[in-house]
Amino acid sequence: MSPSITRTEENPPVPDLSTLPPDFRWGVATSAYQIEGAVTADGRRPSIWDTFCTRPGAIDNGDTGEVACEHYHRWPQDVALMRGLGVGAYRFSVAWPRVRPDGVGRVNAAGLDFYDRLTDGLLAAGIRPYVTLYHWDLPQALQDRGGWPHRETAEAFADYAAVVAARLGDRVSDWCTVNEPLCIAWIGHLEGRMAPGERDLGRAVSAAHHVLLGHGLATAAIRAHADRPASIGPVLNLSPIDPASDRPADVAAAHRLDGHVNRWWLDPLHGRGYPADMVDTYGVEPPVRGDDLAVIAAPADFLGVNYYFRQVAADDPDGPAPYARQVPVPGAAHTAMDWEVHPEGLERLLVEVSREYAPARILVTESGSAWPDTVTADGRVDDTERTDHLERHLAACAAAVGRGVPLAGYFAWSLLDNFEWAYGYDKRFGLVHVDYATQRRTVKASGHRYAELIRSHQRRT
Ligand code: NOJ
Repeated sequence: MSPSITRTEENPPVPDLSTLPPDFRWGVATSAYQIEGAVTADGRRPSIWDTFCTRPGAIDNGDTGEVACEHYHRWPQDVALMRGLGVGAYRFSVAWPRVRPDGVGRVNAAGLDFYDRLTDGLLAAGIRPYVTLYHWDLPQALQDRGGWPHRETAEAFADYAAVVAARLGDRVSDWCTVNEPLCIAWIGHLEGRMAPGERDLGRAVSAAHHVLLGHGLATAAIRAHADRPASIGPVLNLSPIDPASDRPADVAAAHRLDGHVNRWWLDPLHGRGYPADMVDTYGVEPPVRGDDLAVIAAPADFLGVNYYFRQVAADDPDGPAPYARQVPVPGAAHTAMDWEVHPEGLERLLVEVSREYAPARILVTESGSAWPDTVTADGRVDDTERTDHLERHLAACAAAVGRGVPLAGYFAWSLLDNFEWAYGYDKRFGLVHVDYATQRRTVKASGHRYAELIRSHQRRT
């Protein structure tokens, strides 16, 4: 079954969302470093991203998160924007270096106060907060002590999670522990394209293990410190993988890439330990101690899935682990990130993950696309590609629900255009356009369309 969209000459496409449950969470997502700015305000100290941004050539145009969308000061306006869109949920991240500027030790009350005000503001606007505890901004002080390749970082993460849960856990029910361990471990420590910018397979495998361990330890810490019952889960970026050809070498490469991207994370989180074929492929054992695997596999309340693209794999014996190269799909549409537009992959991913691992619930914690938006003379952003992308991915979600996937919500990435990591500000993912010179926000056509789809789903259920 493929995602269904009704198109007629006269009418805009209408995705069939009738299978989505009445209590489906309609959300938008952001992360702290990408939108907040105010990097030295109220006692915040540097994170590894502040440091990475100073590395010559690391970020396109030499951009940094220093100012970003000034959300730290403009958050009331941004909450009002969400209210205007009619979203029921907002996934944001807490900046560890605001709450514990040195990673461990002293708690910075002013940093926590910011998230306290934001939480109250959201609740007053009828928007449910989904708090992500780690969206890549490790305090630099912890990096100086070894970072994620060191076990102490996982323990420090759980301590910080306890602090945040103790403060917000009387009002927040929904918690995402770590965002995209793949990017943290593989892109940050193996490929060097994200902070901390390392290229070392051994350290990458250690980082991977400690991020997962951090998830497990933080889950227990939140349950112990939050006042209200907590719904907790990790957030993984997953991709369906296809072989580039039916040659056995490409089929084997696709299996390795699936191991690298999907199974390496899903297996230990669901009690299967690390996939043995990948330990062989890397030639490195993850530094598992004692009951680490049980801690990592502690039952989660949901699995967060970020979906952006599928991957097509060819054998690459001379390349880096996992010796599989992603190859382009000729003729396919691609976003400004050069990512293939492939909504069918989301339906397939949701169905396959729920059949193979049976998570209690799934949330699409991110889905979205970057396009070269332009603002018209009368101030509109007619982002038809993003609107189409959004509708087709929502239709894929609805189709997956129709096939029995326990999908409970969808968070569009992103509320605002923002700092797209190594790509800087040129890549715009927002449903709301940000003019960085004036900080003016303009709801794009895709944002209006999202609001319409939310309203019509709510009317019908
Ligand atoms: C996933 C990441 O969580 C988010 O920070 C990033 O901006 C989007 N992907 C788009 O690349």
